[in-house]
Amino acid sequence: MEANNTDIEVAVFGAVEEILTAIGEDADDELTPDLKLIQDLEFESIDFVQLIVVIEQRLGQKVGFQDMLMQDGKYVQDLSIQQIIDFTNNRLNNPETAASAPAAPTAAPLAANADQQRITEADVSRFVQLIKPRHIASNSTARKNPRAVFILSPPRSGSTLLRVMIAGNPALFAPPELHLLSYATMADRAEDLSGERGDQLSDGVLRALMQNRNWTHEQAKTLLTDSIDKSLSTQAFYNELQVGLGNRLLVDKTPTYAFSTNILQQAESYFEDPLYIHLMRHPCGMIRSYEESDLTRMMPLLMQSSEFSSAAVAEMIWLLSNRNIMQFSESVPADRWCSISYENIVSEPESQMRRLCEFMDVEYHNDMINPYSDNKARMTDGADNASKMSGDLKFHLHSQIDPAAATRWRQFRSEDMLGDATLGLVSKLDQDVARIRL
Ligand code: A3P
Repeated sequence: MEANNTDIEVAVFGAVEEILTAIGEDADDELTPDLKLIQDLEFESIDFVQLIVVIEQRLGQKVGFQDMLMQDGKYVQDLSIQQIIDFTNNRLNNPETAASAPAAPTAAPLAANADQQRITEADVSRFVQLIKPRHIASNSTARKNPRAVFILSPPRSGSTLLRVMIAGNPALFAPPELHLLSYATMADRAEDLSGERGDQLSDGVLRALMQNRNWTHEQAKTLLTDSIDKSLSTQAFYNELQVGLGNRLLVDKTPTYAFSTNILQQAESYFEDPLYIHLMRHPCGMIRSYEESDLTRMMPLLMQSSEFSSAAVAEMIWLLSNRNIMQFSESVPADRWCSISYENIVSEPESQMRRLCEFMDVEYHNDMINPYSDNKARMTDGADNASKMSGDLKFHLHSQIDPAAATRWRQFRSEDMLGDATLGLVSKLDQDVARIRL
């Protein structure tokens, strides 16, 4: 579908203004095409993805911004408003020249650096102290909720892609990240999610209510506010989400649950025989992805510290989360546990989805391997705006399942940058559990 230059300019300028308002950086002066997003407008790299989601929404079509944002496997360092307008114009009106759209300067490659400190067990012990203490729900006598399914993984493991694939099966209800299990009450949850981008993290429950009750955003917000005011237990709130699901299974993917075994155990006390999917990804892919997304500053449950680099934080999150998941698995009967890897999902989507369906005892549905169809039913559109979907916004950069994403890290990282403990767990998972070394 073509779009004229004026429509494109209106969409791009409008989207830049929308993101500036969202990040509280109102432009002092009038926006001009030469302004650069990071240098002049104080965007952060993660805002780029939000911006392109909003532009595509305003234009009502996909543009294929992946090729603009990523050059030679690396994300661009900065872009001017004019570069975005030109790329969009080329893509929509001259697709044959769009592939050679002017390359923006790219970030310096993160070469394997021999001097980089490899993480040690002592680092991990200090890192664990950065995970916020939390209230554990008092041993509730409440009746257990019906069965639910949990996708357990560290962040940046392809969990949004997996959740959206699962959401393509009509027997399953897989909303965006819920962030419920980590807290005893909705008031605790609201307090922890009140920081930067808290709205985005909190939105998953709203989107879920809108879908399963057929509610407006306002109606969902009223229930959420009421639950916070009454300090409703998170178990009771899960019940609100399960109302009306009939035989459909609720699938909750929230990567931070793996930060603590206490959180994971909460699933056993809240639900009747819950099922678990352990999603793993090679740590180098996860680390690269985490660094690019600059996630630390908006990670719930994690206190900020300047002691560790972003790569070290990512590696320790990978190690700690997978250790917690593995430890927790020992207390769960084998027939309620299934392991899967991102690498396998992107390279053999159909066989992996069939395996998961068998595990969850639901019929396979072909929409599972077409994750970009029907964004409303899959809840990739956010509660009031797609740029606020709770989860990985990079999902929107792709337009199909992309197998190349699993090995992109090889351009920037190597296994010899990993600490011994991480490397040991990589070998164990790869040999005993699911293929993560491609
Ligand atoms: P990269 O940053 O390495 O590209 P999570 O949802 O757990 O945060 O995981 C995010 C990772 O999933 C990102 O990895 C993202 O690109 C990847 N991903 C999202 N959609 C994808 C798709 N359609 N195909 C392949 N990878 C995808």
